[in-house]
Amino acid sequence: MNILVTGGAGFIGGNFIRWMRQNAPEHRLVNVDALTYAGNLESLSDIAEDEYYHFIRADIRDRLKMDEVFRTHDITHVVNFAAESHVDRSIVDPEIFLSTNIIGTQSLLDTAKANWKLAPDDKYSREYRGNVKFLQVSTDEVYGALGKEGMFTETTPLSPNSPYSAAKAGADLVCRAYHETFGLPLNITRCSNNYGPYQFPEKLIPLMIHNCIQEKPLPVYGDGMQIRDWLHVFDHCSAIYTVLSRGEPGEIYNIGGNNERANIDIVRFIILTLGKTEQLITYVKDRPGHDRRYAIDNTKITTKLGWRPAYTFERGLMGTIEWYRANSAWMERVLSGEYTDYYERMYAPSFS
Ligand SMILES: NC(=O)c1ccc[n+]([C@@H]2O[C@H](COP(=O)([O-])OP(=O)(O)OC[C@H]3O[C@@H](n4cnc5c(N)ncnc54)[C@H](O)[C@@H]3O)[C@@H](O)[C@H]2O)c1
Repeated sequence: MNILVTGGAGFIGGNFIRWMRQNAPEHRLVNVDALTYAGNLESLSDIAEDEYYHFIRADIRDRLKMDEVFRTHDITHVVNFAAESHVDRSIVDPEIFLSTNIIGTQSLLDTAKANWKLAPDDKYSREYRGNVKFLQVSTDEVYGALGKEGMFTETTPLSPNSPYSAAKAGADLVCRAYHETFGLPLNITRCSNNYGPYQFPEKLIPLMIHNCIQEKPLPVYGDGMQIRDWLHVFDHCSAIYTVLSRGEPGEIYNIGGNNERANIDIVRFIILTLGKTEQLITYVKDRPGHDRRYAIDNTKITTKLGWRPAYTFERGLMGTIEWYRANSAWMERVLSGEYTDYYERMYAPSFS
């Protein structure tokens, strides 16, 4: 496969590239990332010179550039991670979320269709080159929130509550339409909250670990009883590769780690592991539209494709805490904005 990984300088995309180089090194990887505030190439510096890996700074909404990337690298597969991904930011500025997450996805779908279709000028043709696929990385947040009982299955109606999840749901529907209307071979994966190394410290787990190490206040929204189904990022990577290789075209697969935990329990676990005090916990006003509970039913991917998560939450979180402890310099550079300045100097103004 010649795989276009979009958003590969972000948390999950970067881990996916690293995971692929270790576990499926026969595939070529082209990383396209606009390097927004969330992109950090430093996380991939050790493979930057790898002959099976290539980085291009570009915006997925730039259709001419995407077409050039497809042609130059003979792209056969796309894994679309590129997105605005932080719910809090989507409350402040929804427009960029709709633009990147929906229009950006459509730009990639059009490019894939034009490059993979056997008769690109025949609008009725649904024939594509063999062994091509588009994989849209989506989220369980498109399903909305759950009460105390129940789980999201692939047929749960979409009911997004934040501008972020609405934009992701919009992208999912556009993907569905490209499969139904044009026959484009694609899959959608919807996963629960990821955690693991190299996560930008605005998200719950790295933020809490960082603040706890520094003995700074640990800001917890509302009563801290929001429940998420946590998935180790390496398990997410193995699930994506499974779907990319064996998923039935047109199908949606939920990916979950069977690890429902309340936010406050995670914070307490981090405090205990780092030997700090619960007095660091500071309850702050809950954010608007904060979903109460998510839980993923992963029966389809486990029974149809034979995928299983390898990490228990406790093992995964201990390893993650260790990683952040050992990589405090990475965290400091991310927080200082040093890497942003560096990559601005490195890549602007050519942006290619
Ligand atoms: N992190 C989670 O827990 C989680 C859970 C479910 C689904 N997802 C989905 O997984 C994907 C990756 O999430 P993440 O946490 O790694 O996000 P992230 O914010 O860490 O990374 C996103 C990457 O996309 C890049 N990007 C943004 N706009 C772009 C554009 N227009 N063109 C090219 N690149 C652009 C950014 O520079 C960044 O490197 C997203 O689509 C997200 O919706 C994430």
